[in-house]
Amino acid sequence: MGIKFIKVSVVYFVIGILLGMYMSMANQHVFASVHAHINLLGWLSFAVSGIIYYLFPRVGFSRLSIVHFWMHNIGLPPMMLGLFLLLSGAESYEFLIPIGAILVVLSVIVFAVNVLIHIRSSEG
Ligand code: HEM
Ligand code: HEM
Repeated sequence: MGIKFIKVSVVYFVIGILLGMYMSMANQHVFASVHAHINLLGWLSFAVSGIIYYLFPRVGFSRLSIVHFWMHNIGLPPMMLGLFLLLSGAESYEFLIPIGAILVVLSVIVFAVNVLIHIRSSEG
């Protein structure tokens, strides 16, 4: 799964810095928390998890890594979209944020369990 995580991380990276550039150019700092979380929960979290899955194949080949991948990827876009719309003034879409965030938090717990169960120091 490591490669899949790394591939998807760069997609979030591009979206995150495009939003950052838009924010600086249009002086729209109101979206800072969307930008911060696309970069941190998207780019950085996927990249670091991907590197761990690649370095430790027992963790990467576990089915839990697939559950982690999909829960995180299904949760993050609605969470970010809901926050973006909320900050744009469309409060009726706020419900998307907790739905997405709960999936993301659960995916991180799945990741942590997977690492704790399957990581071995002898693996190169
Ligand atoms: C071309 C790249 C980037 C641009 C143009 C950019 C631009 C910005 C701007 C304009 C803000 C709002 C600052 C404010 O309102 O105080 C911001 C906030 C932030 N950015 Fe970026 N950013 C870029 C890349 C990144 C990357 C790669 C990361 C993380 C991996 C990141 C993390 C953050 C965080 C955490 C904040 C919130 C800081 C706070 O709460 O004060 N940014 N960025
Ligand atoms: C589902 C997971 C997460 C939730 C629900 C969450 C929620 C929040 C909330 C409610 C704020 C305050 C926003 C504001 O006052 O405008 C915040 C700020 C922040 N969070 Fe998170 N967070 C999550 C994960 C993370 C992770 C994993 C990181 C870092 C790797 C992170 C880094 C930050 C930073 C840097 C800020 C301050 C930036 C800003 O909003 O301007 N968060 N987060």
